[in-house]
Amino acid sequence: MSDKSFTLKDNGSGEEADLASYKGTLGPEVVDVRSLYGQQGIFTFDPGFASTASCESTITFIDGEEGILLYRGYPVEQLAQKSSFIEVCYLLLYGELPTQDELGKFENNIRRHTMINETMLRLFNGFHHDAHPMAMVSGVVGSMSAFYHETMDIQSARRREIFSHRIIAKLPTIAAAAYKHTLGQSFMYPRNDLDFASNLLHMFFAVPAEYYEIDPVAAEAIDLLLILHADHEQNCSTSTVRLAGSSGANPYSAIAAGIAALWGPAHGGANEAVLTMLKEIGSAKNIPEYVARAKDKDDSFRLMGFGHRVYKNFDPRAKIIRDMCHKVLAKLGDDNDPLFELALELEQVALQDDYFVEKQLYPNVDFYSGIIYRALGFRPSMFTVMFAIARSVGWVSHWQEMITDPAYRIARPRQLYVGPETRDYVDVTNR
Ligand code: SDX
Repeated sequence: MSDKSFTLKDNGSGEEADLASYKGTLGPEVVDVRSLYGQQGIFTFDPGFASTASCESTITFIDGEEGILLYRGYPVEQLAQKSSFIEVCYLLLYGELPTQDELGKFENNIRRHTMINETMLRLFNGFHHDAHPMAMVSGVVGSMSAFYHETMDIQSARRREIFSHRIIAKLPTIAAAAYKHTLGQSFMYPRNDLDFASNLLHMFFAVPAEYYEIDPVAAEAIDLLLILHADHEQNCSTSTVRLAGSSGANPYSAIAAGIAALWGPAHGGANEAVLTMLKEIGSAKNIPEYVARAKDKDDSFRLMGFGHRVYKNFDPRAKIIRDMCHKVLAKLGDDNDPLFELALELEQVALQDDYFVEKQLYPNVDFYSGIIYRALGFRPSMFTVMFAIARSVGWVSHWQEMITDPAYRIARPRQLYVGPETRDYVDVTNR
């Protein structure tokens, strides 16, 4: 914390207020406005929170100008190259890279929490076969607060740890059950002899009738995608988890709220929307028309997978995923996937267009991820579910950080009221 301050001056009355400012380890300074309403009787105004730091955090750092993403200080590029999703889960949850022994114990613990209560499985029978998987997953994760309420003591470090492990371990199982329900296929139980990514592929794509061979390239691609989507500081869904959890609500319900927020096409739902957009564009000759539409203020169309609230440079994750696209598509035999070719062409056109350059709109993490999920056999409606599986560790890590912060209190923003003045009730006979 620095001892620097800023002075806010009311140019009408000449009154001044000194506001403390703080500098973190990295990133912009912050001005502490907590006393503003008490001392000056005014609120700050920042719809969408583009200039608002909602908390202190030690988990993830993003530099949008330089395209930097660190998980507990480690560059995502290095973790993508050298780590595994399960090791990244440990890092995000506990703050340090694990020793061999710590990693082994953690991985074993997660493996042994992957099964779900059999009555939870029966909940899927309540959904129509064409229910969107995100609707089913958020509903069933929310039901976990019914299964684990009596034992959910958020003041207990052990209970909080068990909650975190259950969410990380069970989300793939719940996601796979949702997928199998849409197919009308039988549910595949998790296998404790498989690693996280291989087990996920098994539960999604194996059937009881025959042996399912796990493709190591597919498992490697899934593990990498999970690492890249694991956390991203105070994004919309993580902020939703923090807000919902700040009332002391059952944390399983807070995670379900985060899943619901992630579903939006402006957020995690963009990966599914990118594929829909590429299919609608159809061929490179139509790109100019769609780029023109994206620039037209009177047209609600936006280039899905482009732009970011924070990155005003390339999203570092998009670069890694684009490179991986080539490798995965070549290995899986789709190296001339027309949609990937179209995505590459669209990226080139957009990056040379003045509008996108001026507004600093670059491809984000969602632009290429759908191409790979599709090549791996996932339906577009499952793409955001895959995002939720990865982000689950970010959500539980931020929830833990908030709940264990001695300074935390219920989140309760204020507003700028622009509604009617006080007025008296008029009886219906006189209206
Ligand atoms: C994720 O926050 C995170 O960290 C999210 C995420 C994570 O890991 O959690 O990174 C994951 O959500 C990535 C983003 C996925 N969403 C999309 O790809 C949807 C398309 N992108 C846009 O909807 C938009 O860029 C957002 C939502 C991502 C960012 O919105 P902002 O920050 O509110 O920016 P904005 O909408 O105010 O846009 C600024 C300008 C606007 O023009 P003006 O009003 O200034 O004239 O840029 C334009 C926008 O119209 N613009 C676009 C555009 N994105 C922004 N124009 C065309 N196509 C686009 N994609």
